[in-house]
Amino acid sequence: MSAAMDNTISSGPGPSSGGAATIGRDAPETYGNPDNWGRTEVATRLGRGIDFGSTHVLAVERNEDGHCVCRTDRNAFLKLPPDVSMKPAMLTQLDVPYAEWKDRLWVLGDASYNLANLYVGNTVQRPTANGFLDPHDRDGHTMTRCLIERLVPAPRAHGEPVCFSMPSTPIDQRVDRAAHRAILADIFYRLGYSAYSLDEGHAVVYSEFMGQGFTGIGISCGGGVSDVCVSWQARPVTSHSVARGGDWIDGRIAEVLGIDRERARALKQGDVDLRAPRNREEVAIALCYRMYVGYLLSTLRKSFDGAENLPRFDAPLEIAVAGGASLARGFVDLMTEELRKFEFPVPIGNVRLASDPLSAVARGCLMAASLAD
Ligand SMILES: Nc1ncnc2c1ncn2[C@@H]1O[C@H](COP(=O)(O)OP(=O)(O)OP(=O)(O)O)[C@@H](O)[C@H]1O
Ligand SMILES: [Mg+2]
Repeated sequence: MSAAMDNTISSGPGPSSGGAATIGRDAPETYGNPDNWGRTEVATRLGRGIDFGSTHVLAVERNEDGHCVCRTDRNAFLKLPPDVSMKPAMLTQLDVPYAEWKDRLWVLGDASYNLANLYVGNTVQRPTANGFLDPHDRDGHTMTRCLIERLVPAPRAHGEPVCFSMPSTPIDQRVDRAAHRAILADIFYRLGYSAYSLDEGHAVVYSEFMGQGFTGIGISCGGGVSDVCVSWQARPVTSHSVARGGDWIDGRIAEVLGIDRERARALKQGDVDLRAPRNREEVAIALCYRMYVGYLLSTLRKSFDGAENLPRFDAPLEIAVAGGASLARGFVDLMTEELRKFEFPVPIGNVRLASDPLSAVARGCLMAASLAD
């Protein structure tokens, strides 16, 4: 390990050519179905969209042909123990992205889960808790910087706009949103970007409701948080986040079935249809999803009470759901069913899945960044 390792960071293989990183896995990864993402009329329009999620980070841009290109990685890292015989050159050889920081090697992203299995007693860390960075966790901030620098190349022009997602004001947890935003904005400023933030639900509205003049309800159902935005002509009428998402569902399933969370997650992501559970496990999973969706909709209902000067909506408001937790089979039907239990002060229309649920927030951010250009 380099003797010069102090608090300066040097990164190992990464797909970006920005900063000091050397290139390892340099082919841009696509995520979801790029055919659903459409093309811009103006190719190579500047701007990048970043979904900084608690489970995944996605970076989206448009190439010369106007196609969306997406790079993604898990938002996680693993601090290798000091006695481990792994050397930076070996990690590079193995195509494992890493950073050197505080005299230790830190494995970044997806690879951290693979390596954690080799080093018993070492757990993967996630820089966010329920969607937000801890303002006091310097290691977490540093690894966030490394993760982002791997996914986001240098700007194509100085001050190129980047729009990153963040959860809206939470209603059920106390967090420092300003610090979260400042930490992320600083990373992009240092790379030479102009940085903007966009709430996740609002980003779903940008990607899913262009045809309706950006009027509709965007809901992002992520791992750590879920985010809700009611938008009228691109302006949020009301928006909020809740500290519940796929992680929360895992926890409830684990509790109900008396199993660990990893097993609960595997079961949840297996072949379950929420509309037709076939055994005890699937009944428990469907029940936990129902609790989650019911809670989410109850907060949407309450959010209208706090909204001032509700505009007159000419047509029923459609709901578009996005994010990993919305991928469960039957999720849309379950939400449609739960919706009937509430009375809303405005007419609510259909629920539908976003065109590509995993990239919807990033694509919405890209659209906002392009508009800022
Ligand atoms: N096919 C699937 N079926 C059910 N759940 C899934 C599926 N795929 C992913 N998930 C769940 O989606 C969640 C992660 O979603 P996503 O990647 O959208 O989160 P994120 O955007 O990183 O997090 P957040 O928005 O909360 O900050 C996890 O809880 C995961 O278990
Ligand atoms: Mg998300």
